[in-house]
Amino acid sequence: VVWHPLLMEAHRLTREDYIEILAALPSFWGERDLRAVHHPMFLHEFGETGLAIRGSEGEVVGYLLGFVTPSPATGYAHLVGVRDSHRRQGLGRCLYREFERRARERGATSLKAITTPGNTVSIDFHRALGMPATLVPDYAGPGEDRVVFRADLD
Ligand SMILES: CC(C)(COP(=O)(O)OP(=O)(O)OC[C@H]1O[C@@H](n2cnc3c(N)ncnc32)[C@H](O)[C@@H]1OP(=O)(O)O)[C@@H](O)C(=O)NCCC(=O)NCCS
Repeated sequence: VVWHPLLMEAHRLTREDYIEILAALPSFWGERDLRAVHHPMFLHEFGETGLAIRGSEGEVVGYLLGFVTPSPATGYAHLVGVRDSHRRQGLGRCLYREFERRARERGATSLKAITTPGNTVSIDFHRALGMPATLVPDYAGPGEDRVVFRADLD
């Protein structure tokens, strides 16, 4: 299936989206068990800046969990996942575009995301979106380096 960019629309994360995402985690993350980082606060507290895209069969094909931090207001993208069957069709880019719009609306002056140094797909993806990567030693505690992405919104 070739996903036509004009048909993509990211909508506010709903309870139905959230439940479906939890039931389909391997299609988004493979073997990695990321259930714990899909905390329900991303639906109940930060649902207005969470997003999902549904595919032609009605299934969730991509989603973004994120929020806007206190000052300085930053749009923090916690997780972005696109179904393995739907990658490289611009869905990730579409999710970020809508997240940026919603973050700006809420006063954000920059975007931020982090990943682990081994996640080269995530690094390539964020770089392609214009978010430069910086390796920060011990970001998540001793021996836990992370790659931090940032982009200013002007
Ligand atoms: C990272 C991820 C969200 C990207 O989603 P996507 O819908 O495939 O990304 P897009 O199609 O919007 O890609 C935008 C650009 O990013 C870059 N990119 C995306 N995937 C890439 C890959 N596998 N290798 C190299 N570059 C890649 C490309 O420059 C791409 O543009 P192009 O296709 O025109 O060349 C998706 O691969 C995914 O869900 N991965 C597993 C979960 C994960 O690691 N998420 C990120 C950490 S939170």
